[in-house]
Amino acid sequence: MNTVLAEDIRALQYGPPVAGLKNHLAEMMRERGVDCTGDDILLTTGGQQGIGLWVKLFLNPGGKIIVEEMIYPGFTQVLTPYGAEILTVPTDLQTGMDVDAVAKILAACAKSGDRREMPACIYTIPTGHNPHGATMSMAKRQQLVALARQYEVPIIEDDAYGFLQYDNPLPALRSLDAEWVFYVGSFSKIFGPGVRTGWTITPNSDFYDKANCIKEAMDLEVSGLIQKALLVYLLSGKMPAHLQMLRATYQKRRDLMLQALEEHFPAGAKWNFPNAGMFVWVEMPPHMETMRYLDKAIEEEMVAFVPAIGFAADPTQNASSASHSMRLTFSAVPMDRINAGIAKIAKIFNT
Ligand SMILES: Cc1ncc(COP(=O)(O)O)c(C=O)c1O
Repeated sequence: MNTVLAEDIRALQYGPPVAGLKNHLAEMMRERGVDCTGDDILLTTGGQQGIGLWVKLFLNPGGKIIVEEMIYPGFTQVLTPYGAEILTVPTDLQTGMDVDAVAKILAACAKSGDRREMPACIYTIPTGHNPHGATMSMAKRQQLVALARQYEVPIIEDDAYGFLQYDNPLPALRSLDAEWVFYVGSFSKIFGPGVRTGWTITPNSDFYDKANCIKEAMDLEVSGLIQKALLVYLLSGKMPAHLQMLRATYQKRRDLMLQALEEHFPAGAKWNFPNAGMFVWVEMPPHMETMRYLDKAIEEEMVAFVPAIGFAADPTQNASSASHSMRLTFSAVPMDRINAGIAKIAKIFNT
């Protein structure tokens, strides 16, 4: 910020989106397999605004939307004002969204031949899913995009964790289709949530103008000062090494957490192996309703987890495992405290 302000104090003024930042993001998207230009990139106030923009554009009040049974609660907040008909599909903890279930819903909705019966869009977090940590397999990615094309239903791809893949990274859905996939990216998990900067990739200038109009009505622009400061950082060339550092660190923390679960958690507990993002999903034996243990964990052991129930997209159609599962996060906990933290949680469930 000092560099920006020393160069030009007008960084404190209103201004058009910083073209250099958009161009740089288009370059970064090559790592996600996406071929786009700076003109396709619409800067947003975090990924949160990006997902909100597309929902606003696609969903009418009372309309239908396809989501997974467990989703990022910020998306539930986006949906709430629409009173939408939420059609949920399960998620496989290793291969991601149940795309066959999506196909069934789309086929059933298409039966009447009335376009108004179709879901307005599909929302998914294919990579490093929040809360499951799951990453959608390549075969499912191809199948999902083919369905979007066949039924002409847009996909909102929330790629908040897409740059945090550990082994054999998979490309974004947007790399498979530029027309029906509406990509949402964010600096929050790869730089810092405090910059409140994200981006969305628009299929053409018509969509760009529409989404931009909604964005401007909300908050005019992403802080010009922050945009310019981010560009200074990106042009310094430090980002690739920073991403490598994040991936190496999180991978080690993940492995420590998985080892600690093995060591301390009760028989009958199951968890997945997340290859992206920052979450491990743990399913406890069915009688261990995680919500009932949370207060005790905080009060007696000063350690917390997130009970699965908080992620239910539609609390009236809970996944069967919702009551006895939880989300653990390995992103911010120092390596030397992970084992002790997991041991403390296990103690609460074991006593
Ligand atoms: C899946 C997902 N999407 C979007 C967001 C919001 O990101 P941002 O801080 O970029 O608005 C989060 C934040 O946790 C998230 O987990």
